[in-house]
Amino acid sequence: MAIVDIAAEENPQAALDDLARVCPPFVPVVVLGDNTEIGFYRLLVNDLGVAEYLPKPLTRDAVQTLLLPRLAGPGAGPAISSIRRGGHVVAVVGARGGVGATTIAINVALELAEATKAHVVLLDLNLQTGTAALMLSSHPGPGLRSALADPERADSLLLERTAIEVAPRLRLLAAAEGFGSTTPVTDEGVTRVLGLLRQKFNFVVVDLPGIPVPSAMFQVLVLARQVVVVLGPDVAGLRDAKAVRRFVADTTGTDRVITVLNRADIQGGLSRSLIETGLGARPDITIPDFGKRMIQAVNVGVPARTCVPALRRHLAPLVREISGVETDRSGKSWLMRMLRR
Ligand SMILES: Nc1ncnc2c1ncn2[C@@H]1O[C@H](COP(=O)(O)OP(=O)(O)OP(=O)(O)O)[C@@H](O)[C@H]1O
Ligand SMILES: [Mg+2]
Repeated sequence: MAIVDIAAEENPQAALDDLARVCPPFVPVVVLGDNTEIGFYRLLVNDLGVAEYLPKPLTRDAVQTLLLPRLAGPGAGPAISSIRRGGHVVAVVGARGGVGATTIAINVALELAEATKAHVVLLDLNLQTGTAALMLSSHPGPGLRSALADPERADSLLLERTAIEVAPRLRLLAAAEGFGSTTPVTDEGVTRVLGLLRQKFNFVVVDLPGIPVPSAMFQVLVLARQVVVVLGPDVAGLRDAKAVRRFVADTTGTDRVITVLNRADIQGGLSRSLIETGLGARPDITIPDFGKRMIQAVNVGVPARTCVPALRRHLAPLVREISGVETDRSGKSWLMRMLRR
C-alpha cells in the first residue's frame, strides 16, 4: 500500500496522475489531504481509483477504522464495522474519583454539539451520585431508571421524553436515584439504552462511574469509538489510567484510549517527565488547574466553559480527535456533513 499526502500540492489531480504513472496498479493508494469537499472525495475514490481518502486533521480513530483494516486486508475488522453503525459513542471515565471526568464529559458534549451541528446526548451512568444534572441545573425524572431496570419495555420514545434539552442539540439523560436505591443495572439494560440512543443521536457521550467500571457497563467501553480516561497528576491516577488502557485494548483489540491529564499544574502534582515515564507516553490532552472559578460554575449550575472560557481552547484537540472537525473551521468539513444526516 502507498500512503501519499497531497495537502501541500497546488494541483493534487496532476500529482496523482504522476503517481499513477509510476505506481503499479495492484498497489492500493491511500491519500491524505486537506480538501474536505465530498466532490473531491468522489473524484479520488470513484474516478481515480484511490482506495481511501482521509481529510486532515487525521484522527487516531480515522486511522484505526479506515486505514488499518485496509492494511490488514479484506475481511479485517468486523468489530469496527459494528461500531460504525449508529451514533458515535464516547466513553469518559475518571481514573480516580473527583478528577474531573464529569466536567470533561459535559464540556466535550457541548463542544461537539456546537462544532458538528449534530445531535448529542450526554448519558450519566452514575445513577446514585451522578453530578451532570446538578452541573447543568437539570432535574432528571425516572425514565432512565425504568429503561435500565426493564430493558424489554424500553423504547426510544421513553428515552426521548426523558432526555432533557440542556443546550441546542444537546440532551441529558441522567437519574437521581439517591443512596440506598437498588436499581438493577444489567448488561442487557445498558446495551438496550445505548442501542436506542445510538439510533437517535449522532454522538452519545457517556459519563461512566470510575474505576472499577461496573461489569454491567463494559459494553459501553466495547462500543465506544473513544474511551477518554481523565487522570490527575498523581501516582494512583497513573496506575489506574494504565489499567484502563490495558483493559480496553484487551477487550476490543484496539487502542482507542485518549488520556486527559487534568489539573496538570496543581500544587504537589507529579512533574511532566514523571507522568510521561509513568504513563509510558505523553498524555494526549493536558488541561491546567483553573482554580476556584470551576467550583463556582458547579455551584451555580452552569457548564465550566461558561465561567472559564479558556477551557474550550484546551478541549479543542479532544473535540477534533473525536469529531474529525476542526473547531475553528467548522462549517467546511466533509466529515461534519457526513454526520449531519
Ligand atoms: N481543570 C480544573 N481546574 C480546577 N477545578 C477543576 C478542574 N476540572 C475539574 N475541576 C473541579 O473538580 C471538581 C470535581 O470535578 P468532577 O465532578 O467533574 O469530577 P469527577 O471525576 O466527575 O468526580 P466523581 O468521581 O465524583 O464523579 C469540580 O468541582 C470541578 O469543578
Ligand atoms: Mg463524575
